[in-house]
Amino acid sequence: MPKKSLEVLLDVSVDRASEVPLHRQVYLGIRRLVLTGRLRPGSRLPSTRHLASDLHLSRATVLDAFEHLIFEGYLEGKVGSGTRVSSHIPRDVHTLTSATQQSPIPTVRRKPRIARRALAHSFRQRLAATPARPFRPGLPDIASLPLDLWSRLTAKHWRRAADQLYEHADSLGYLPLRKAICDYVSRSRAVRSDPDQVIITTGAQQALYLCAKTLLDPGESVWMEDPGYPRARVAFKSAQLTVIPIPVDSEGLNSAASPEKRSAPQMIYVTPSFQCPLGYTMTLERRFDLLRVAARNNAWILEDDYFSEFRHGTSPVASLQSLDRNERVLYIGNFSKNVVPFLRIGFLIAPKSIVHTLKMGRTSVSRQPPGIDQAALAEFIADGHLERHIRVTLQIYRERYEALVNAIRQYGAGVLEVSENGGIGMYLVAWLPSGVDDRLAARIASAAGVDTVPLSNFALHKLRRTGLVLGYSAYETRMIRVAAQRLCNALLRMRSATSQIK
Ligand SMILES: Cc1ncc(COP(=O)(O)O)c(C=O)c1O
Repeated sequence: MPKKSLEVLLDVSVDRASEVPLHRQVYLGIRRLVLTGRLRPGSRLPSTRHLASDLHLSRATVLDAFEHLIFEGYLEGKVGSGTRVSSHIPRDVHTLTSATQQSPIPTVRRKPRIARRALAHSFRQRLAATPARPFRPGLPDIASLPLDLWSRLTAKHWRRAADQLYEHADSLGYLPLRKAICDYVSRSRAVRSDPDQVIITTGAQQALYLCAKTLLDPGESVWMEDPGYPRARVAFKSAQLTVIPIPVDSEGLNSAASPEKRSAPQMIYVTPSFQCPLGYTMTLERRFDLLRVAARNNAWILEDDYFSEFRHGTSPVASLQSLDRNERVLYIGNFSKNVVPFLRIGFLIAPKSIVHTLKMGRTSVSRQPPGIDQAALAEFIADGHLERHIRVTLQIYRERYEALVNAIRQYGAGVLEVSENGGIGMYLVAWLPSGVDDRLAARIASAAGVDTVPLSNFALHKLRRTGLVLGYSAYETRMIRVAAQRLCNALLRMRSATSQIK
């Protein structure tokens, strides 16, 4: 009898109270002994009868485990006439596998190899994923979503999915959704397009990434607003583009500011209907300037129209795309704000000449967007539910905007100031007194239970005036008042602590 391996095998412990079947426990125990190198290749195992009696198990249980170990290649031979550890098991097995927790041999830890360009993806995100606290920006009001309707639509399209296979397989996206989007953006934003120009994406983010990767080569220049949308910057950096910050004022991106200091663009990224994050609407004059710059440089313009619908009192301004006669503008939209961010559906409307290139780029990362949500969304838009939902939330956001502005005016004298912007959008910028470090202010706010995003997180150059970005759309007015008071009190304490230090 192979005494040594029997001793080792007695380390196989079985737990009769466990939910794991006994034969599986024996299998796992012997496998671990092989992978940790305690049972060496070629060593002979005791007979199943012997082992069964030592472990107080039935022979059938042990036989079952042995057969499985032979089938997977850990053991060789024939059960009943001598079984050995397979000679194909490498001698350094314990350095290769993850079953070595019980091995006395230390694992060699090396830094994982990653591409240098992957560092460009790093994104400064300080707010944890959950739970959302006021005033975390970017979230819509979830409570007003028509969830029953949405469940009915998705259930219906699951039942129909087999008949719609062909439409789901189009890598531009589901055709009825592309049609519904064309009609909707034509009605609401004067965007001129037909469904063959629409590419459904996984949120606006994928649209930005696709444009950066497929339209420009590494090293080429993209102008972007400063301060501007950090996730756009990440998409451009990850495509190894050179990001050139262009100052923003109350008329929008100012392409004429200090022209001597920067190179010509091959692409320009703008948020003309609600500048991210300052909230200004780009004037018509600046829009024409931008089209002129693009034509002169043969550059693309990415128009990120991320929540143009949320304007109180006035209807949305017509898109930049609607003014473009030279097929330079790519229009990017999303359903993260007017429906919900975790739907992860956005779209890109591109000039016909580049749709195929973008489509190929999209296919290389994901063949087509998930089908059922596209089908449900198509019906949601086509039957008027989207516009109804926007009207409902617009009214709610107006009340929340007013609650926040009033609370800041009531509690924030000397520490926070809001400038009236007509309450467009879902968040606002509250300005700090000059010289105050907004990142420090955001940390102090967070310790007081209030989420804010420092304006500096959006800026490439040092800001002349700092501030906090405060989202109001997702929080009830009562919560807004309480959180605003807390925030202002924390900033007042910060001010008196720092003035004492001085
Ligand atoms: C400027 C801007 N564009 C687009 C989006 C929407 O991005 P996505 O559709 O990837 O959620 C946001 C969301 O915060 C945004 O701030």
